Amino acid sequence: MTSAAPGRTVLVTGGAGGLGRAFALGFADPGTKVAVADVNLAGAEETAALLRERGAAALAVEVDVTSPASTEAMATQVAAFGDGGLDVLINNAAVYAGITRSPFEEIDPDEWDRVMAVNLKGPWMCARACSPHLRAGGAVINISSATVYSGSEQWMHYVASKGGVIALTRVMAKELGRRGIRVNAIAPGFTLTEASYALMEDADSYGVDRAALKRPAQPDDVVGAARFLASPDSSYMSGQTLVVDGGRQF
Ligand code: NAI
Repeated sequence: MTSAAPGRTVLVTGGAGGLGRAFALGFADPGTKVAVADVNLAGAEETAALLRERGAAALAVEVDVTSPASTEAMATQVAAFGDGGLDVLINNAAVYAGITRSPFEEIDPDEWDRVMAVNLKGPWMCARACSPHLRAGGAVINISSATVYSGSEQWMHYVASKGGVIALTRVMAKELGRRGIRVNAIAPGFTLTEASYALMEDADSYGVDRAALKRPAQPDDVVGAARFLASPDSSYMSGQTLVVDGGRQF
């Protein structure tokens, strides 16, 4: 399977660690340029160093995905790195580990706004800023969550933000499809990252009994879906959401 063809430029937001770092490293093919953007610049630089070790050209960018000015500066910098354009945008940045789990009646409205700002407005801001630079044949991949399908309790702000990501994927697929750009989403199930370990005391065994595959997911289990959605192998797919959860949601 090919990923982004050699010479293409890929941008991963939230690439300082976890799934974002795994997505970035999944595109470390010779000739591919990978930009890693995060509010955590030091982490993005670590990912960029790992990419360079693997022979890819890499750029680390500091961004706040909630900010129009910051996302526009990111897009300009990445397009310059990508010889005037961008081929693949992976909207992965989000907040969840630090947010409170509580019944919906008790969710703090300020926290609701913060979750929506990063997880839902963020992908819009990034896509909006990158749109003028996206080349025909390109792909946008939005990271949603399988919690949208399971309706995870006591987490309505997070679940709603990720449901919104599926909705904006469908609208963007229609609007960008006219330019030959495909837009799809990935809904990972619980995946072992530093952030998800911080969230669950029983992270290693969480949900394993309900998964068809009876094992937890590692970030690399999700990377193949992103490579597929960025590649010509999915050339007639747009507006779709791939659930990558080890068979938990059926
Ligand atoms: P993570 O916390 O390691 O990654 C999120 C990244 O986003 C961090 O590097 C963080 O610094 C960055 N970020 C947060 N706010 C930002 C902002 N305002 N601007 C720019 N960057 C910002 O989490 P993880 O586990 O790697 O998750 C990655 C993605 O996958 C998220 O979208 C998450 O919702 C989604 N996901 C994760 C699952 C899991 O079990 N790990 C399951 C389903 C979805």
